[in-house]
Amino acid sequence: MSAMSPIRTVVFPVAGRGTRFLPATKASPKEMLPIVDKPLIQYAAEEALRAGATRLVFVTGASKRAIEDHFDSDPELEAALLAQGKQDLLDSMRGIIPSSASCIYIRQHAPLGLGHAVLCARPVVGDEPFFVHLADDLIDANVPCLAQMAAQFERHHSSILGVQTVHPSETDKYGIVASSVIEPRLSKVSEIVEKPKPDKAPSNLAVVGRYILTPQIFSKLATIGQGAGGEIQLTDGIAQLLKDQAVYAYAFEGKRYDCGNKLGYLEATVEYALKHPTLGDPFAKLLGQLLEARSADAHSG
Ligand code: UTP
Repeated sequence: MSAMSPIRTVVFPVAGRGTRFLPATKASPKEMLPIVDKPLIQYAAEEALRAGATRLVFVTGASKRAIEDHFDSDPELEAALLAQGKQDLLDSMRGIIPSSASCIYIRQHAPLGLGHAVLCARPVVGDEPFFVHLADDLIDANVPCLAQMAAQFERHHSSILGVQTVHPSETDKYGIVASSVIEPRLSKVSEIVEKPKPDKAPSNLAVVGRYILTPQIFSKLATIGQGAGGEIQLTDGIAQLLKDQAVYAYAFEGKRYDCGNKLGYLEATVEYALKHPTLGDPFAKLLGQLLEARSADAHSG
């Protein structure tokens, strides 16, 4: 496949332990947590489909069944909804994944790190560029983030990392890049470090959960060994890739919610509920009442 072909494969690593959401994530992956009425992984699949992906590769872990079941058709449930005349719900179920797209599931036998999870997808991805999407980074954007990045890929034919500036005190939660600006939003990466302490960080430009990677990443991931936290880190693989080929950082347009932590998850839930076509108004009213009652309580107590 030439570098000009559109990117057709997206890898969703969904095999993390999700410890920050225990016990909710004991028997179900955190990517199945809902924002209003859809699980995070469905927002992820929709974004990738809108960016042109047709092969959806899920790297699953111990509690994989929920994700497979979610994207599988459920004739019994569909028949029941049809019998009850619930056409809207039926449409929302049938529209989860178009029939032109295929879902492929690969097992990561143990959560050895994000880099290892991506490496597990190698036999399916093959020798072509691919998207990596971390569903717990939810991005609300007019043009889906992966589609913005795909447009950059068409120009540069190189790996592209979705980045965002973060507060300098927060560098130790992210992969951080040093880069030189090429044009607004786009820069060329010269260095990448996993979770540096603020005084060691080369910048406050953080990689969030969107990547376009060239297939050369796989041979790097296969040889890097354990990095920070004893895990095989995608960041370390990208640091090796950088030595051989250009890697770009793209500051996407849109608002990102870190749904891997509880406060970010709640923020996304509230904002998505406020924007919801039917729930938005009643929810705004309810929220106003709750906040009023809370401040009245605070004043009386
Ligand atoms: P996180 O760093 O958020 O880790 O993983 P986590 O284990 O899911 O969550 P916490 O920190 O314990 O609460 C980033 C992404 O990489 C995937 C996760 O599913 C998540 O999408 N991942 C991580 C894997 O698929 N496999 C791994 O071995 C590690």
